[in-house]
Amino acid sequence: MENFTSVKIFILVGFSNAPHWQILFFVILLCIYIATVLGNLIIIVLIYVDSSLCTPMYFFLRNLSFLEICYTSVTIPKMLANILALEKTISFHACAIQMYFFLFFGATECCLLACMAYDRYTAICNPLCYPVIMRKKVCIQLAAVSWVCGGLVALGHTTFIFTLPFCDSNVINHFFCEIQPMLKLVCGDTYWNEIQVIAAAAFLILIPFMLILLSYFHIITTILRMKSAKNRQKAFSTCSSHLIVVSLFYSTAIFMYIRPKSSYSLNVDKFLSLFYSIVTPILNPIIYSLRNKDVKGALKKVVLKLVASK
Ligand SMILES: *[C@@H]1O[C@H](CO)[C@@H](O)[C@H](O)[C@H]1NC(C)=O
Repeated sequence: MENFTSVKIFILVGFSNAPHWQILFFVILLCIYIATVLGNLIIIVLIYVDSSLCTPMYFFLRNLSFLEICYTSVTIPKMLANILALEKTISFHACAIQMYFFLFFGATECCLLACMAYDRYTAICNPLCYPVIMRKKVCIQLAAVSWVCGGLVALGHTTFIFTLPFCDSNVINHFFCEIQPMLKLVCGDTYWNEIQVIAAAAFLILIPFMLILLSYFHIITTILRMKSAKNRQKAFSTCSSHLIVVSLFYSTAIFMYIRPKSSYSLNVDKFLSLFYSIVTPILNPIIYSLRNKDVKGALKKVVLKLVASK
């Protein structure tokens, strides 16, 4: 207990084992951050202004874009500041807050992606009842439930981690306060803690994932039974963007969280976690705008209007 209370500040190692690359990292990271925020903002604005994007699918996409902006804002600004700072520290409380929000937005994304799969399932497998099932009110409720679930799960996880005794060291070999590098600092035998963390993560990640798989199983069997090739193509194109985003997000999340601590190789993990904390949020607007005719059309309309008004 004595040692535990003595940890008031953590050191985030980040990329400081490659000192010559700091400026390059900084510039790349800053560009990625700006592109992520801008790309997702453009999607949000397009969905607000274009009346043809006023469907449940785009309501969820707008919410997802908003979520991605929040999600990257938890980690990247602090990473940028840390690259420039001489002392790469973060206080105990700031670390807890960062972990809370990172898990909050991550868990919400898990649930929101499941809601989007449910939306596609209803649209494709039950098209006649779709307008009734996916009413505006239901969409708002589904999104709200995702946010509340994310918040509660993150609260439980963060409280659990930050009441463990930290005594080995205060050096976090990572660029933000993530679960696995924090668990490495917990003193004593952490076997049961690990089991609990993995079980909670599995519960959180695998339940939405199963729901998504189930939805897509039904979607694909329905698409295969369609007689006209044109309908088949159309149905598939509305869910392919979502399917790509889901595969990227869940494959990294499952790989990162659902395995024992002994198999962590922190340097490899650090590199991989760049993927789900930085790369997927920027891919989301790219995937949705490049693969989606409606979004591309709306973007064209807005650009033409802007040009015409000049
Ligand atoms: C996302 O969904 C929540 C809950 O329904 C809602 O309060 C919020 O305004 C939505 N955000 C956007 C940007 O659509």
